[in-house]
Amino acid sequence: MRTIKFGIFGLRRGATFYRNVMMNNGEVVAVCDRDETKLEEAKKHLGGNVAAYTDFDAFLAHPGLEAVFLCNNFQQHTPFAIKALEKNIHVLSEIIANATMAEGVALVRAAEKSKAVYMIAENYPFMIFNLEMKRVVEGGTLGKIMYAEGEYNHPFNPYDAAEMRKYVPFARHWRYLCPRTYYITHSLGPLMFVTGAKPVRVTAMPVYAPLPDDTISGSVRGGDRSAVITCLNDDDSVFKVTGWAEYGAHCNASRFCGERGQIENIRGDFNRLLLRYNAWDKPEGKEEMTEYAAEWNDPDEELIKQAGHEGGDFFTIREFFNAIRENRRPIFDVYFATTMSSVAILAHRSLLERGVPYDVPDFRREEDRVKYENDNLSPFVAPDAPNYIERWSRPFVPSDEAVAEYERRIAKQD
Ligand SMILES: NC(=O)c1ccc[n+]([C@@H]2O[C@H](COP(=O)([O-])OP(=O)(O)OC[C@H]3O[C@@H](n4cnc5c(N)ncnc54)[C@H](O)[C@@H]3O)[C@@H](O)[C@H]2O)c1
Repeated sequence: MRTIKFGIFGLRRGATFYRNVMMNNGEVVAVCDRDETKLEEAKKHLGGNVAAYTDFDAFLAHPGLEAVFLCNNFQQHTPFAIKALEKNIHVLSEIIANATMAEGVALVRAAEKSKAVYMIAENYPFMIFNLEMKRVVEGGTLGKIMYAEGEYNHPFNPYDAAEMRKYVPFARHWRYLCPRTYYITHSLGPLMFVTGAKPVRVTAMPVYAPLPDDTISGSVRGGDRSAVITCLNDDDSVFKVTGWAEYGAHCNASRFCGERGQIENIRGDFNRLLLRYNAWDKPEGKEEMTEYAAEWNDPDEELIKQAGHEGGDFFTIREFFNAIRENRRPIFDVYFATTMSSVAILAHRSLLERGVPYDVPDFRREEDRVKYENDNLSPFVAPDAPNYIERWSRPFVPSDEAVAEYERRIAKQD
């Protein structure tokens, strides 16, 4: 198996992949981060031969670099992806693929022109429960899937300074600028992967419940805890998904309802599944209700078990490297990636308008590209920028005092 010469850009998330790359016969030859302490840590892990850069262009020019993993800020992947694709360097991009509609158009055009592979690094579809649901759905015993739900619910203890410091080291970090619908791939990705259905129309509602002011981040965040998003799909099925939600208890969950039965994972458990059929319609030899644990049935099982995100991170690298080696489109190609982003972006607009529906474009079609090629609206720019769109369902911009207070609270040693 040919070794892939790989570079990693952004070394918080990116630094968790060194072992995974090696397990899939890749070699990290270069890393890039503007934070030099992270470069030093990388050298400690990877040895002195790895080249360390603070500047992306210099990193991209590293001799022999074949492929890059973009693990920089959530909303800033597209310009870096395009630069790499223009040099025919393969791109694995962390989520989200594009943060504006215009970026989605530009990304598709760049990927089509390039000889390189583009893949979005969506890892949740590869978690064991989602793979098992794909196996059952494709087995056909549930009949046509008419409805599916996906939930990515990741609340943080709002009084835990260490946790906030780790994930949100300053108040204007992307995690606090990110509207609820934008972090959508962990809930929508598995549903698109399992069913093959593609959203064509979207609508969303905010779940508004501000955190109390005495919590660590209460005074710097808008009040939306989640967004409840519905998608009408190209096969007449309907999805209900959340973006990044923070309510109830932590879980990643999917549920698929077909003509004859349904399958879901038990919320809070990655590996307990509940498969049910109606009494009058159950396939021969099946129980009405079965609760069971899925199995990997994969030759790389031992390696998968060592990887992050319940094994999902292993599959992401394996699929990307195999697509490069076999010179083929990966499962999560640029159309899959930009469709998820369009749902995220247009769901947010729907939410701001209290549920007005939006058609989801198909960027394979030139007429859809032309419609959005100059649409630069973004919730991530400063509120006085001409292309700013509100971040929250009720307008909110934290004061300078609140920002200073946040940074004081997370700096305090616990
Ligand atoms: N798929 C998953 O399960 C998963 C999990 C965590 C994070 N992520 C994704 O990974 C990405 C990174 O997340 P994170 O939590 O590591 O974010 P982070 O903000 O903690 O880290 C980003 C890193 O990129 C560096 N960086 C940003 N812009 C740079 C630039 N122009 N030049 C040099 N260095 C730059 C920063 O210094 C920082 O070290 C995000 O897109 C996030 O959505 C995905």
